[in-house]
Amino acid sequence: MTSLSVTSINTVIFDGQKPGTSGLRKAVKVFQQQHYTENFVQAILDAQREKLLGSTLVIGGDGRYYGREAVQKIIKIAAANGVSKLLVGQNGILSTPAVSTIIRKNKTLGGIVLTASHNPGGPNGDFGIKFNCENGGPAPDAVTNKIYELTKTIKKYKIVNDLHVDIDKIQSFSIQVDGKPFTVDIIDSVNDYTALMKEIFDFDSIKKLLQGSDGNSSFNVLIDAMNGVTGPYVKRIFGKELGVSESNMVNCVPKEDFGGLHPDPNLTYAAGLVNAVKSDPYDFGAAFDGDGDRNMIIGKKAFFVNPSDSLAILANNLNVIPYFRKTGIKGYARSMPTGAAVDRVATKTNIQCYEVPTGWKYFGNLMDAGKLSLCGEESFGTGSDHIREKDGIWAALAWLNVIASVKKPVEQILLDHWGIYGRNFFTRYDYENCDSDKSNKMMDYVENLINKNDFVGTKLKSGNKTYVVKEADNYSYKDPIDGSVSSKQGLRILFEDGSRIIFRLSGTGSSGATIRLYIESYESDPSTFVQDPQVILKPLVDISLNLSKLGEYTGRDKPTVIT
Ligand code: G6P
Ligand code: ZN
Repeated sequence: MTSLSVTSINTVIFDGQKPGTSGLRKAVKVFQQQHYTENFVQAILDAQREKLLGSTLVIGGDGRYYGREAVQKIIKIAAANGVSKLLVGQNGILSTPAVSTIIRKNKTLGGIVLTASHNPGGPNGDFGIKFNCENGGPAPDAVTNKIYELTKTIKKYKIVNDLHVDIDKIQSFSIQVDGKPFTVDIIDSVNDYTALMKEIFDFDSIKKLLQGSDGNSSFNVLIDAMNGVTGPYVKRIFGKELGVSESNMVNCVPKEDFGGLHPDPNLTYAAGLVNAVKSDPYDFGAAFDGDGDRNMIIGKKAFFVNPSDSLAILANNLNVIPYFRKTGIKGYARSMPTGAAVDRVATKTNIQCYEVPTGWKYFGNLMDAGKLSLCGEESFGTGSDHIREKDGIWAALAWLNVIASVKKPVEQILLDHWGIYGRNFFTRYDYENCDSDKSNKMMDYVENLINKNDFVGTKLKSGNKTYVVKEADNYSYKDPIDGSVSSKQGLRILFEDGSRIIFRLSGTGSSGATIRLYIESYESDPSTFVQDPQVILKPLVDISLNLSKLGEYTGRDKPTVIT
């Protein structure tokens, strides 16, 4: 067997290798600098300390530009650092949910995901590297902080320069590195994930729904992979397993630059899907982001399902899904800015509902402790304890499983739900790529304002609406399982009638700052249910913009994206 040796390379330190909400994300050009990627990978491995020797790691990503180079670098650096085995997705392709699935199935030490999620790709786009731990979930703050600290002192990295593995061919490749065996298994990217989906959902009933049976016409879906990683998963699961025809699955070949698309499934960036479903007789549309963990669901005529509502609907119908019939429903959770519709389902069914900061990593501990079955975020993330990532395809299948069971169109499901629980109107305004300094100043200004002693009790008015401040703070979270505290997670203004305004800076951008403004209010009057959230929430939006002086600070008079 070939034997290769390890080289130690002197390196230079790069500032700012601090993982954000979901890993290290920067422009491709930043990662392409000599030593930049190597340093970060070495720091990830060093953060594992003694657990690294003899370990197995999963490697794969969303297929974006620079992914293949990064995979080769990781293979060489992992080999040099005493890792025994790598499970690498063929062509370097693994969706984020698939990485989580494979880590858990093979009980590996973790995995490295090469993705900048929903950020655009290509030579001028973004790249990202994220570490997931042995539970299959994104590394918690303690681990990412350790990685960051290591990047600030790194002097050398270790590499096996002469190691080249063909990642396009399914194979098991073994060599000796300084006398110790090292194996790279190139694995099928979709097999394990598909098998898991088939265990969770009732594929037979979904298939009957999609193909039409018992005198019902077929349920016409349009699935949009947005040129991201989910293409092969969509084709296998929706196409091969569920019989959806080719023409109903679009943008299903992963492209290094996502074909120029911004692979974020929302009303702005997935306009292609929205327009197609609006103008043709589709019953259902779904789109996923670059790495396959986000989802957007729309009904006939592009009836939009807000992610906060999507979570509540699934919570309310979870027992139709075979997986949850088996495991029982242990609890629900949502991120703090997410609309509180799910809380109402939890209260009614007497099931615990947790609120955590933004970021999927905060759900992991609750799931590992057996306290959480279903969770979601307003940022188009929905998922369950089947893995430790949010899961786009899972969400679409969950919806189809529910529809197959309740036999109602999407819009009717929402209307019936609001009829029982009332409607939590929700909207999010994103101001992308703002000046960082000015955005920070605005956040400081708002924080000072809401911290003033007399702010609680203030009456804020817009038109004929008045809202009385009940509580205001910079949100802080104490993890109920390990007691760790995450502070400064977003400025909250909570009103006496349950309405909320939240200001937060995004943690996933790669340059500048993105300000997110989240607005929620609750209505129990059925005549409001069919109204446009933008109309219902306008008074609160106006109050937020006045109060924060957002326009003055940022020079923006309208958001980049409205959800
Ligand atoms: C990623 C994470 C999500 C999180 C989202 C927030 O998608 O996986 O868990 O909700 O980022 O992004 P933001 O840009 O608001 O920090
Ligand atoms: Zn993503």
